Order: sequence, then C-alpha cells, then structure tokens
Amino acid sequence: MAVRPVLKMGEPLLGQVAAPVQRFDAQLAALVADMTETMHALNGAGLAAPQIGVSLRVVIFEITSNPRYPDVPPIPFTVLVNPELTALGEEQEDGWEGCLSVPGLRGLVPRFTRLRYRGRDIEGAVIDRTVAGFHARVVQHEVDHLDGILYPQRMRDLRNFGFEDALRGQVRPTPD
Ligand code: NI
Repeated sequence: MAVRPVLKMGEPLLGQVAAPVQRFDAQLAALVADMTETMHALNGAGLAAPQIGVSLRVVIFEITSNPRYPDVPPIPFTVLVNPELTALGEEQEDGWEGCLSVPGLRGLVPRFTRLRYRGRDIEGAVIDRTVAGFHARVVQHEVDHLDGILYPQRMRDLRNFGFEDALRGQVRPTPD
C-alpha cells in the first residue's frame, strides 16, 4: 500500500475514458488499497482510479460524520467497479464541489438529485443502491472521472467558481 500522487487538471489521462475492469484479482485489490490510502491521506470524500494514473473504471468514496461538515450526511466506505448510473427523474440541484485533482478550488455544480447506481464490489459481488442528495452527488462526481470529465466542465456559471479561502463564508462547506 502506498499514498500515490494525485494527477491535476490538465493531465491528459484525466480526460480519457477509462477501461472496464475484467478481473477481480490481487492486482485490483492492490489498486484499491493504494486508492484508499491516498484518499484517507488527503482527507478526500472520493477518488477515482484515473486520479492516481490508472485508467480503469474503479471509484471509491466515503463520508464519515465530520464536525467540519455538519450538513453532510455519512456515506459508508464503498468500492464501486464498472459502475452504471441511472438518474431517477429529471430533478437536479446545485451544490458546491471540490476535487483532489483541482486543489484549492470550489464550484457550484448541478447534479441529478436521485440516482440508482449499480456495479461490483472488489470481489465482484453486485452493488445496487438508490440514493439521493449528497450521496448521489459524490457518485456522479466520481463516475464522471471515469469518462474524462472534471466538475468544472459540468458548471453552468463560472462566476460560481473560485478558491476555497476566498469563497469562505459564501459557500456551504463540503469535503473534496
Ligand atoms: Ni474529483
């Protein structure tokens, strides 16, 4: 296990469509171990394999209850492989996001409010969940990384994009 460097916006690999995982083997387990250590070291809410330079369809996410983010409900630690998302309804909501690949910045991003997501866990077992709100937002953000999309590309108004320290007091605080 190792903390790996996180690629930053501008790296070509972050703009690529990642390949599906074919085997649920020790190599996948080692990748997920590195992703987990890296996410925890950087206090991230989620991480996608391309962010550490591996172009495979693997994301992880977790929100533990944190007094710094009292409005953010907890999300159990999840490894999601080869995810498929289905928006439930048309409703979207705006929320502030950050990203370990876009350090120091925050932006207001529209996301579907309700979502069904399916995929596999690290051993290949099926995951099938219906979620809403911040949980749905985190999953949409992470799965976008697998399609080469970073959150600024989803924004509708770049006036709602800025540095976290400059925005303090204007935005609802959320984890990266
Ligand atoms: Ni991100």
